[in-house]
Amino acid sequence: MKALTFHGKRDVRVETVPDPIIEQPTDVVIKVTSTGLCGSDLHLYEVLGPFIGEGDILGHEPMGIVEAVGNAITELKVGDRVVVPFNISCGHCWMCDHGLQSQCETTQVRDQGMGAALFGYTKLYGEVPGGQAEFLRVPQAQYGPIKVPDGPPDDRFLFLSDVLPTAWQAVEYAQLPPEGSVVVIGLGPIGEMATRIAQQRGARLVIGLDLVPDRLVRAHAHGVHTLDVNDTPDIVEAVRELTGGRGPDAVIDAVGMEAHGATGAAIAQKLTGLLPDAVARRLMQTAGIDRLSVLNLAIELVRRGGTISLSGVYGGTADPLNMLQLFDKQVTLKMGQANVRRWIDDLMPLLEGDGDPLGVESFATHHLPLTEAPAAYETFQKKQDGAFKVVFRP
Ligand SMILES: NC(=O)c1ccc[n+]([C@@H]2O[C@H](COP(=O)([O-])OP(=O)(O)OC[C@H]3O[C@@H](n4cnc5c(N)ncnc54)[C@H](O)[C@@H]3O)[C@@H](O)[C@H]2O)c1
Ligand SMILES: [Zn+2]
Ligand SMILES: [Zn+2]
Repeated sequence: MKALTFHGKRDVRVETVPDPIIEQPTDVVIKVTSTGLCGSDLHLYEVLGPFIGEGDILGHEPMGIVEAVGNAITELKVGDRVVVPFNISCGHCWMCDHGLQSQCETTQVRDQGMGAALFGYTKLYGEVPGGQAEFLRVPQAQYGPIKVPDGPPDDRFLFLSDVLPTAWQAVEYAQLPPEGSVVVIGLGPIGEMATRIAQQRGARLVIGLDLVPDRLVRAHAHGVHTLDVNDTPDIVEAVRELTGGRGPDAVIDAVGMEAHGATGAAIAQKLTGLLPDAVARRLMQTAGIDRLSVLNLAIELVRRGGTISLSGVYGGTADPLNMLQLFDKQVTLKMGQANVRRWIDDLMPLLEGDGDPLGVESFATHHLPLTEAPAAYETFQKKQDGAFKVVFRP
């Protein structure tokens, strides 16, 4: 089959690799019909290379048709249409029982000290072959895959794999009071979907921050009060003015470790890119490598007693944080990989009706064959050509 494979920093290729097969009785194999490109893939493309094997298949936002089922699978049959969550969870351990599927105790990557295994997401997360491919082996298929009805186009359901549950969790973790106010930093797919969900769930004021003009326009078009961080001399003051002088009830960080405009850490990230993988891995696991400008902005923005919800991915282990303000302002911090399965029952009603309240069918900007994936990674990273959400159709 054809698959998108990793070969080094900003070097991904479409290659022919062996078809996946059933390896465990609880596996299924799907034929992938649509598969997303995510901001998380950009971290792999740019800074997480030392944790990825040469030739590893990337991608964690697939859906498709069940092609083969393992002996132990009674929940699915050949021909079913399914969306595959980016985290692999068993559905019967203590963590899964408690709605913490991204910490699943059956798939936890214990030798790396990490949570549940993820598709296509480094040795830290189990080095499981990913979904930017023609076929995908899905472990723990008794629980993971979400069955969806035939009929509507793939985009109606595809974002259940990651964007929707991640954005839903971001808003849930923001603990907004009724008619609350929230600032979303970063208006990529995750941040922008979080603004839509916050509106849907009754937020009174949703403010969105970014620096890419077409992303600001996009969010503004559905009622988000947008601020261009490059164009606003004093963001903190501007947000305070919009929130009665107090600051918002919550701030969602949907940017993560590669925030623009954070020079020190940017240099550190570049340096690790020049070191041999083994040395770089050690350095990244022992030194702070995140660009923290956005997180520190979130700490400054949030009102006293408010909540910061982090969905942007961070990976440094010695990041200097503004503990003084975090403590003095009595801030609650909630974060983590999305527990995808946990939020599906909340999301389904918003996808199944005739309307499309979250606008999922017009969410993606690009639908491309998988062969164009290497160019699409570059365009998406550089935020050119209006690339906001790219979906491959293998
Ligand atoms: N927690 C999870 O389960 C989970 C799941 C999916 C994605 N993520 C993470 O969420 C983050 C966003 O993902 P995405 O797909 O939306 O990616 P993206 O890269 O398209 O979005 C990031 C946005 O942040 C903006 N940005 C960068 N620096 C900024 C700054 N200083 N101030 C304001 N805006 C800034 C960028 O212009 C961009 O629009 C990534 O870190 C990704 O890894 C987490
Ligand atoms: Zn993703
Ligand atoms: Zn589990």
